[in-house]
Amino acid sequence: MADKKNLRTPIVCVMGHVDHGKTTLLDKIRGTAIVSGEAGAITQHIGATEVPIDVIIDKLGDPRLRDRFIVPGLLFIDTPGHHAFTTLRSRGGALSDLAIVVVDINEGFKPQTYESLQILKRFKTPFVVVANKIDRISGWVSQKDLPFAATFKKQSEDVQARLETKLYEVIGELYNQGFAAERYDRVTNFQKTLGVVPVSAVTGEGIPDVLMVLLGLAQKFLEVNLQYSAEGPGVGTVLEVKEEKGLGATLDIILYDGTLKKGDTVVIGSLGEPIQTKVRALLKPRELSEIRYESKFKQVNKVTAAVGVKISAPGLEGALAGSPIRVATEETLDEIVAQVKSE
Ligand code: GTP
Ligand code: MG
Repeated sequence: MADKKNLRTPIVCVMGHVDHGKTTLLDKIRGTAIVSGEAGAITQHIGATEVPIDVIIDKLGDPRLRDRFIVPGLLFIDTPGHHAFTTLRSRGGALSDLAIVVVDINEGFKPQTYESLQILKRFKTPFVVVANKIDRISGWVSQKDLPFAATFKKQSEDVQARLETKLYEVIGELYNQGFAAERYDRVTNFQKTLGVVPVSAVTGEGIPDVLMVLLGLAQKFLEVNLQYSAEGPGVGTVLEVKEEKGLGATLDIILYDGTLKKGDTVVIGSLGEPIQTKVRALLKPRELSEIRYESKFKQVNKVTAAVGVKISAPGLEGALAGSPIRVATEETLDEIVAQVKSE
């Protein structure tokens, strides 16, 4: 088993068609209500939220599981499902280790469901499919926060049959897209077959199952990818360039490898020559809060991957969302500048 200290937090991207329930699902996982604060409840930016392993284990309801999982937590990235945001979705897909594709079980596949699958195929990202809104299946009797098997057992035979019919429509569509898929509790080999988890993001039914599958995927397939040298130079991607009162232009980034410290020299991609600057402040949202909605940040001296963090530094105005950001030393500066230019 890998050494706990050297396993970084997996980045999990949540993708899917508009209104299929991505933000609601994340809300349920972190126990907040971001969706009610969004303009028209449409997600317009990429957000990042860190959920520590202890919070996840708590949701699984069995403390004995604590020793089974060695990842330190999961860093979730919410993406917008509106058709106008293809670049944001690709950006999220490109930097994630794992993904959740959310599909409304009653509506089935829609354009951005297909698009999400294409992005994940392109980046060969392991993912789980969430068949959401099972509480809307006619006759469904909701059982708050129960695992899927337990709530399914409590439904009448008619309702169970309706769920299976809708579920196999989703599985059929996945097959048409070139993916072998099955209800997740019928999957014997997650390397060959996609798991589909029936869920209600509103009532919480099936949420423990989604977390369990994600942790399982992280452990099984990513142990090697998630190994990193904690003291290695930081590498990340710029999510957004944002003007902040009193700070000027700042960057929201996802650091996916190594360490980034206050005072570090960083090289950032821009339209012209890469920007070289020194980090003035590292601002971290509190755990479980989302970087987009956080007004009070905690100043930290150092962050370690994977993490969403805001950077304040001189000269960030020309930085581009989606660009790489890399830590450089005096010795590596020329090499890193060349590397960032070519990325
Ligand atoms: P975009 O960010 O715009 O792409 O949408 P989204 O996928 O994040 O969807 P969001 O979470 O904003 O949910 C859209 C609507 O569906 C909201 O009104 C939610 O309350 C509702 N919704 C989400 N999940 C469920 C569910 O499991 N059951 C029911 N009944 N409603 C749900
Ligand atoms: Mg959303």
